[in-house]
Amino acid sequence: MSAMDQTLTKLDQFLAELDTAIADGTFVRLSLRNPFGADETLKSIDIKPVAIRGELKLGFTFHHQRRDLIQNHPPAGAIGQLRKLLTTSFRQGFLYATTADLLYDTQGKSPKLTRSAASSKGAPTLEHDRTKKRLIPAGGKPYLAELGVTDAEGNVLKTSGDKFRQINRYVEILAPLLAAIPAERMRRILDMGAGKGYLTFAVADYVANTLKRETEVVGVEFRDELVKLCNDIAGRSQLDHLSFAAGSIENFDSTGADVLIALHACDTATDDAIAKGIEAGSELIVVAPCCHKQIRREMETANHQTDLDFVLRHGIFMEREAEMVTDAMRAMILEYYGYSTKVFEFIGTEHTPKNVLIVAQKMKRGRDEGQLKKFKDAKAYFGIRKHYLEDAVGLEG
Ligand SMILES: C[S@@+](CC[C@H](N)C(=O)[O-])C[C@H]1O[C@@H](n2cnc3c(N)ncnc32)[C@H](O)[C@@H]1O
Repeated sequence: MSAMDQTLTKLDQFLAELDTAIADGTFVRLSLRNPFGADETLKSIDIKPVAIRGELKLGFTFHHQRRDLIQNHPPAGAIGQLRKLLTTSFRQGFLYATTADLLYDTQGKSPKLTRSAASSKGAPTLEHDRTKKRLIPAGGKPYLAELGVTDAEGNVLKTSGDKFRQINRYVEILAPLLAAIPAERMRRILDMGAGKGYLTFAVADYVANTLKRETEVVGVEFRDELVKLCNDIAGRSQLDHLSFAAGSIENFDSTGADVLIALHACDTATDDAIAKGIEAGSELIVVAPCCHKQIRREMETANHQTDLDFVLRHGIFMEREAEMVTDAMRAMILEYYGYSTKVFEFIGTEHTPKNVLIVAQKMKRGRDEGQLKKFKDAKAYFGIRKHYLEDAVGLEG
């Protein structure tokens, strides 16, 4: 028997075992490792059973150097593809079923099949369509490619996966809140500290193409080069009501801003953004704060003791406490100005450690003096002389 015949024989056995495992529902996953193919960017492939609209498919994840590509195939087609991949591109195939593990290995002189006890005990769970339906899908959005979030084919670049999830999550949270605002009271949305405009584009796209509103969306950013880049891309993106303005948040005229958002505007820039929303009487203010240096400095230099000194003497706890105190005080000031607030984590820490979101909705009520008192008490307790937001909104004392 020639070496080629032997390869086919072992490969046939391997693929037959896979076929059986799929048919009797014991297939868990298959991994292709040790690449040698012409495509040097392709490092490995993982294959799992998935259910797509009720049908069993094999989901292939092609791990390339800089991105992952996903394809789903019916089992028969998948086996044909695996035969090709194990002949032209990978030296090893690891098959995991609930009955046994099987290694197909062509590294030695002749191909080998090695069987061992099953390392996966549980029944395989059929993952549902892994390409989660997102409000801002990666495909068909040229602006995402121009911003460097996806490639030209609409695949999210590995380096931008976290940002892609963040903007989608942010839009998911905004969606019902925006939909609840009547069109005539949603004339203008400001995104403060827009940076490269990822969120600004996503929100403008959602508002124009899903909510079908003609709301003006403006990204405010003090880095001129980013503003120019974003305006150029916006001009090519058929988002007629989107623009970017160069300048500082604190000096920006927020008149008519019915909605104000900010994603990771640095330190006190978040306070400036909140203040602009309060000043404009915005219906909705949603901010994901960034670093919390101002209040940390105040707490560190306070010259009196609190019951929490045993906690705050540790740098890491001081950092966390300063973050909580900063944002809780922001919420109290917003409540004072008649907003109802919620503070929560909007995304897992694996996607960003700056994952707290403050959502403030304007209520039909006046100022809440009780919140102002609580705010002042909290300041006194921690020895904080000023919260930056006080000055930004012009609060006395
Ligand atoms: C961490 S980046 C976040 C950018 C964007 N929102 C995002 O999440 O991708 C913060 C941006 O806010 C801008 N920025 C900070 N303070 C600002 C201020 N006072 N006025 C205008 N832009 C500001 C910075 O230049 C930077 O681009």
